[in-house]
Amino acid sequence: MRDNKIYLQASEMPTEYYNILPDLPSPLAMPLNPATKEPISPNDLSAIFPEELIMQEMSPERFIKIPEEVLNIYTISRPTPVIRAFRLEEFLGTPAKIYFKYEGVNPAGSHKTNTAIAQAYYNKRAGIKKLVTETGAGQWGSALSIAAQHFGIQLEVFMVKVSINQKPYRRTMMRLHGATVHASPSNLTNTGRAILEKEPNSPGSLGMAISEAVEIAASSNDTNYSLGSVLNHVLLHQTIIGEEAKKQLAKVGEYPDIIIGCSGGGSNFGGISFPFLRDKLTGDKKDLRVIAVEPASCPSLTHGKFAYDFGDTAGYTPLMKMFTLGHNFIPPKIHAGGLRYHGMAPTVSNLYKNGMIEAQSFHQIEVFDAAKTFIQTEGIIPAPESAHAIKATIEEAKKCKETGEAKTILFNLSGHGFLDLGAYDMYIDNKLEDYKLPEELIFRYLAELPEVEE
Ligand SMILES: Cc1ncc(COP(=O)(O)O)c(C=O)c1O
Repeated sequence: MRDNKIYLQASEMPTEYYNILPDLPSPLAMPLNPATKEPISPNDLSAIFPEELIMQEMSPERFIKIPEEVLNIYTISRPTPVIRAFRLEEFLGTPAKIYFKYEGVNPAGSHKTNTAIAQAYYNKRAGIKKLVTETGAGQWGSALSIAAQHFGIQLEVFMVKVSINQKPYRRTMMRLHGATVHASPSNLTNTGRAILEKEPNSPGSLGMAISEAVEIAASSNDTNYSLGSVLNHVLLHQTIIGEEAKKQLAKVGEYPDIIIGCSGGGSNFGGISFPFLRDKLTGDKKDLRVIAVEPASCPSLTHGKFAYDFGDTAGYTPLMKMFTLGHNFIPPKIHAGGLRYHGMAPTVSNLYKNGMIEAQSFHQIEVFDAAKTFIQTEGIIPAPESAHAIKATIEEAKKCKETGEAKTILFNLSGHGFLDLGAYDMYIDNKLEDYKLPEELIFRYLAELPEVEE
């Protein structure tokens, strides 16, 4: 028998998150207050976030201790395995060694649980009774519903309308864990009502759902907002993935040549790659290649602009310097709902701008083709988001076949696709479409970026 899995015991789990802020190649541009366009102060954020998360958002400390209570809950599913994809390698006939970190074993089915538990914990400590959030594909909402229930916090979720229709059982999951779920845009908020008035059949977007959730959270003292990606503290919590993977690969004497992660707002990508990027940033692993993979229909890194933009449609969030397609951009209705976001985390954007990471984009059908290859070799049904990383991995492994190089590739399988079977049905029946994004559409939304003097 070949040993194809590398496990860690709970007692071997990393006890600190890695904060990339002090190691970034250039300082992160300060987020700006959306009204004054002045650098934001911790006070500006305190209406919707607890103090400890605000401190993490701006922390200069390289390592941040994971609280004991959070580690304890992590042990429900962590440490997650690193698996060698021997069968995929053989099928491709590649000399490359392919490893994947499998986050689909987490209770909600994806990596999102890692920050959900931490955020619910810090909000509970701050005396918060209720959290409000948005969710795209439903992965984030289900992860937070589990975490909120664990800490006895109520949860209200604005779920992007097109995703509710595509993935009704995600809503079931959230409701089972006690959350209230609304289709966004809704008529419960000023933002939702304004959007519906202009476009009654709006499919919704993450940007719109964020505006609705922030609006509700800002209007009540014991209610906070929680975001599942993009912000520094979210990516910080996700570094447990890469910290574990590093220990696991070290157990078999490996260090990756290439790291690959799909990227919507950037949290799964940051989670798997930042702990390794630390070695590149300090000069120890200069040749490490790190690839962020996004959908061709929502290509913020590969076709967006590096500029200050809002994180949401209505312009309630701070202005962040990031690669963006414009906060008014509504991505086509692809089935990787978690990758339908107009911007990219400021930290990931900073690394891309400084040439420390690469970005690639793929169309929906080629991504599902790659998922099928993975399903038929490794037996796991990936989330369509994660399948973007599989597609990029297969391409890199094929290059190794051409050159004869036995590179070590690590990708993050960020979630399973058990609640995405409707999308897979469409794929099997040849009903999926590739959406070609017209250049003029991108220019149109980029022309609507807020004006900021720098
Ligand atoms: C399985 C899965 N992977 C990846 C993502 C992308 O989000 P992020 O870029 O924050 O990791 C999502 C978002 O919902 C997801 O559900």
